[in-house]
Amino acid sequence: MSKTNLSTLLLKWYDLNGRDLPWRVKGGAHPDPYVILVSEFMLQQTTVKTVIPYFERFMQRFPNIESLAQSDLEEVYLYWQGLGYYTRARSLHNTAQIIMNDYKGNFPQTKQEILKLKGFGPYTVASFLALAFNQPETVIDGNVTRIICRLYHLTEPTDKITDKIRRLAEDLTDSAHASDYASAIMDLGALICIPKNPLCNQCPWNNYCQSKNLPDLEKIPNKTKISKTEKNGFVYLIFNNKKQIFIRKRTEPGLLTGLYEFPWSETPLYPNALNTNLNISHVFTHIKLTLNIQTLHKNIPPTEGIFVNINELSNYPLSTLMKKVINIWLKK
Ligand code: ADE
Repeated sequence: MSKTNLSTLLLKWYDLNGRDLPWRVKGGAHPDPYVILVSEFMLQQTTVKTVIPYFERFMQRFPNIESLAQSDLEEVYLYWQGLGYYTRARSLHNTAQIIMNDYKGNFPQTKQEILKLKGFGPYTVASFLALAFNQPETVIDGNVTRIICRLYHLTEPTDKITDKIRRLAEDLTDSAHASDYASAIMDLGALICIPKNPLCNQCPWNNYCQSKNLPDLEKIPNKTKISKTEKNGFVYLIFNNKKQIFIRKRTEPGLLTGLYEFPWSETPLYPNALNTNLNISHVFTHIKLTLNIQTLHKNIPPTEGIFVNINELSNYPLSTLMKKVINIWLKK
């Protein structure tokens, strides 16, 4: 089966079965690159289902690149609250400002220029250029890797064959319809060639798949599991006489910089605090952190930060972990 025929089959399938997604235009229309920028940043590490309501709220508040560039980062965080991986929000805001200031609001369209912007790795550069400008780029994420490995029955660990996967994925790409092709292969991975119980009978590549009906189908791709480091610590809900709660803005450089948090540490900070016996766990990329929630009474802020009314906490961007902390404590 030639490459042209495989991509034609996929594009035909996509015309009939592709998902209607709020950032997507179909039928050859030109998308707004800003819409692609926001959606691709949100979709890094987050599922389509989770992203959709965030995307819709975000676009209502920041409908174009000017509005995003002119906003305060803290407000952008509020609209990102719950999506996690806040570095993406910071990079998106920074990218919007650079495009306004250095490019007069016109998106650069070369790989070299885009790679200089914050938040763009190889995947997002490819997806952005393919989806926004129909450039002949190939997207390779976990879904595409699964499809390629199954189509060609590649059973070696995926991290050992990245070049081979890339070459095969590039060979299949229909460069004249790069945007639709990128969307189509994403949809094939999301709807048909799913990890468990793939719907091979509905797959446009059904007759050409070298793994179809093989007992090891679901074991492909052969991914090396990265084990997560487990960490434990304490988080402190500190109240004053007015029943206000203490929060501080995180300044340490890292993933959560600029977000608000309750004081927390891997070692105890306040020996007089009361243990609530409530624990909360959160998984970051490579770490599983479990915090034991403790409460404390103090009228003077214990470190730099402020006391706020609990019902005003929603005005401050809290990390997903801290939202979990306050929610579990309020529900107790
Ligand atoms: N994952 C990453 N980008 C995507 C997109 N544009 N549509 C669906 N899933 C995606």
